Amino acid sequence: SGPETARLVASRVLDVPDFPQPGVLFKDLMPLFADGKVFREVVDGIVAYHGRDGFDVVVGIEARGFVVAAAVAYAAGVGVVPVRKAGKLPRVAHSISYALEYGEATLEVHEDAFTAGHRALVVDDVLATGGTAEATLDLVERAGGTVTGFTVLLELGFLGGRERLAPRSVHALLTV
Ligand code: PRP
Repeated sequence: SGPETARLVASRVLDVPDFPQPGVLFKDLMPLFADGKVFREVVDGIVAYHGRDGFDVVVGIEARGFVVAAAVAYAAGVGVVPVRKAGKLPRVAHSISYALEYGEATLEVHEDAFTAGHRALVVDDVLATGGTAEATLDLVERAGGTVTGFTVLLELGFLGGRERLAPRSVHALLTV
């Protein structure tokens, strides 16, 4: 159930002070990925939430989002579309740049990544400011994908990502 899944996620997150820079409390989900039983329950929970037939493809965001996306896709018997950081994709790609606190980031997806009418479930490990998610959701739509849902394992509620993504809905297994 929802509360049980939230407790499972909470039990496998490590708080790392001052990473990647001083003053930032980093949420490390590596312990969750490393625990096979918990990882499976979390992944099965995501598939159950959206329904095994509720999506046709899973979109994962580089790099930690790939871990979640591949597992969800495998569990549901569908494929994965990777959204990658700039310069990694070998063929013609759509590209979106977005502002970070300092500087800019760029995400890309192959222009032929989506089959018309296929419903894409977008997943990532953490929702923070929502900049990455907003860029990804725009990118998927620009490439002709239809976004049917967006799920993260952990939402940092105080950073306002959910509000930034409105009216799109956000499914978070745990919000802190
Ligand atoms: C992290 C996380 C999300 C993003 C969330 O990725 O995995 O993708 O930041 O931040 P935001 O909501 O403020 O945009 P990161 O850029 O650290 O990449 P990584 O997974 O390759 O380490």
